[in-house]
Amino acid sequence: MNINVQTGEVRLSQRTPTPIEMMVVVGPRDYYRYYRNSRVTHVTIVARMPNGTAHELCRNLRLMANRSVVVTANGRVKPQKYGGYLFEDEDGCPRGYRILKTRAQSIGALSGTRGRTQSLLSHVSREGRRLRSIAFPADYYGFLYVNHDFTAEQVRKYGKIYGSYRFTQKCITINEPDLLRDIMVRDFHVFPDRRYFHLGSSKIGKSLFFLPGSDDDWKRVRSILSPVFTSGKLRAMMRNISGISDKFVNNLSRFAEQGEPVDMRKYVGAFAMDVISACAYGINVESIDNPNHPIVTNAMKILNTDAGVGIMLSVMIPQLGRLLRAEPFDIKAVKYFDDLTNQILSERKVINKYSASDTKRRTDFIQLMIDSEKSDKESEYYSGGSDVETDETIEQHIHKRPMGTLSADELTAQGILFFIAGYDTTSAAITHAIYYLSQNKDCQQKLYEELQSCDEFTYEKLAHFKYLNAVISETLRLAPSLTRIQRESLTDYKLGNTGITIPKGTSVEIVPYTLHRQPDLWPNPNDFIPDRFLEPTHHPYAYIPFGGGPRVCIGQRFAMQEMRMCLAKLIKQFEFDPVDKTQTKLEYFTGSLLMSPKELMVNIKSRSTIGKSLLFLPGSDDDWKRVRSILSPVFTSGKLRAMMRNISGIFDKFVNNLFRFVEKGEPVNMRKYVGAFAMDVISACAYGINVESIDNPNHPIVTNAMKILNTDAGVGIMLLIIIIIVYTKF
Ligand code: HEM
Repeated sequence: MNINVQTGEVRLSQRTPTPIEMMVVVGPRDYYRYYRNSRVTHVTIVARMPNGTAHELCRNLRLMANRSVVVTANGRVKPQKYGGYLFEDEDGCPRGYRILKTRAQSIGALSGTRGRTQSLLSHVSREGRRLRSIAFPADYYGFLYVNHDFTAEQVRKYGKIYGSYRFTQKCITINEPDLLRDIMVRDFHVFPDRRYFHLGSSKIGKSLFFLPGSDDDWKRVRSILSPVFTSGKLRAMMRNISGISDKFVNNLSRFAEQGEPVDMRKYVGAFAMDVISACAYGINVESIDNPNHPIVTNAMKILNTDAGVGIMLSVMIPQLGRLLRAEPFDIKAVKYFDDLTNQILSERKVINKYSASDTKRRTDFIQLMIDSEKSDKESEYYSGGSDVETDETIEQHIHKRPMGTLSADELTAQGILFFIAGYDTTSAAITHAIYYLSQNKDCQQKLYEELQSCDEFTYEKLAHFKYLNAVISETLRLAPSLTRIQRESLTDYKLGNTGITIPKGTSVEIVPYTLHRQPDLWPNPNDFIPDRFLEPTHHPYAYIPFGGGPRVCIGQRFAMQEMRMCLAKLIKQFEFDPVDKTQTKLEYFTGSLLMSPKELMVNIKSRSTIGKSLLFLPGSDDDWKRVRSILSPVFTSGKLRAMMRNISGIFDKFVNNLFRFVEKGEPVNMRKYVGAFAMDVISACAYGINVESIDNPNHPIVTNAMKILNTDAGVGIMLLIIIIIVYTKF
């Protein structure tokens, strides 16, 4: 016997064997059992062989070598300290019990030798027994450890496809893009459902996520909700998100000024909470200033399902959970949202009756769902309907026209679901993006350069920033917010050409976290390289942060817009640096299917451009000459004459405001009103923006200008702003 360390080939016979059957050894012990009765002539060892097991294997094979066997290791073979061999990939990455696609073929081959089709049931049970000490009960360990790390370890040990048991339920984990496409799209009729959870007495079971896909209710609810996420509706919501992003940036400025590190996890969480409250319920929460707002506290109670007994039972042994009437969600918190939705519904119904304009103005999910009760013509669903779903197969399964209406319970359930599905997923993704950008400063600079020239981030502009989108995609590749996607088989199912039959009722576990880091699908899989998404070449089902097929995330576009807006505004305004406290490896909560980091401490610096203004440029500098020569024509009498129209209009408003005091005979603080007049003139002449600062003292232009000035708007300083602003326009 001879093991070639370079090629990993173990040759037991001088004769060239005729490959009749192939098998892949999946573990140190079981090769012999599989091998004994088969006609296998080629064996690929993909298992770590600890403590001399490799020697044992080779000895046994030698005993049987009269049948001429070629044993090939998958990758290089590295002698281990305690004997045995560890097999490595070409890139030197230890693979442990690596199981390749061929392993599935080997099962087919083995079954062939036995003359009957071997179903996954026996494969799984064999795996289940064999793995029991390690993988049973796999998900319990997942609850005790960080779930995605645990799953990655399992995939490392058992390969891209492996079986396990979750109590009595059979599970198969699959990390093969082609097979995933079959399961999620082509054969959706076999896998329309997620795994069954016991959801207790709450109404959440009526929400889109938890409704069985085989059920007409799911189709009805999805068809009603889809138009809520069309580009037309999202464009209207962007005003909300933009305003909340501005406040977020304002809040962070404090840390930039004081040079203190900030926990971005906390602030991004508050941002995401404000966005979802405004977009779902039309409520302005400002959760950083109001951490005890009932929306925040109750949402947190529902979201904080950290491996409690109720949730463990409901997820792991749903039947027992049902029997014991376990409650996975905080019932009082669910009731709060129930009451809130009912209250909003009745208020809106009264308002809508008397004020059609109010209905039109509102763009939150609740209003859009109320509108869904109207005819589709009336609610203009299909103005942007073509981009609700793009996949043809999705179209086959989801009727584009809303069918029927939502009951009050269903409406409440969707409202709560938007919190569960839309809050932590998005905030975790934004946190991860900042983490990766602070660790990869060259990428951060590249992103800043892309965003730098843009004054206003609109829906259309945001979608077209290529690098921004690449940064988000790469973030979701490395850190997909939802680490596990599940489907349950309605019937027995032949898994591609693997020879495996998935029995009815098996839970198919899809793990984007491991799929996105497979070295054969992604070069340098653990590195943050946004450029790979500029001209993407990957298999479409090698990248599934939002799932796939008809059950793909319905909030994907909304989440993408929210992430784009938030990141664009943050990176344009601040530079993020790691601080000592920044973990090179983030810490995560255990037992969560979400990749939810505990904290992210970073340093932030303001990207101020004030030093490049005419006032501060040294006169000896060529730049000063250039800037002065550009600015001079702006102040010629011709240009000023044109601006006078603006100033005259603002003056009329100023006078009107003062008349109020004249009528009431009250004294007036002229300093304040003249300051507001000057602010309006500057905003209109420099940016063409109508601020009306007396009525809108919280307008971002006013609050930010005041922060720069840190004094009341004196005319002299206003002149300075004119110079700065006019310069930055060029
Ligand atoms: C970065 C943010 C987000 C990520 C990574 C994400 C990811 C996912 C994933 C992986 C699924 C399962 C898809 C499947 O089974 O194939 C899903 C489903 C879903 N998501 Fe999201 N999601 C995000 C944001 C949102 C938002 C903001 C909302 C709503 C406001 C939302 C609502 C939903 C709903 C309702 C479903 C269930 C769809 C159905 O079963 O028909 N998600 N999401």
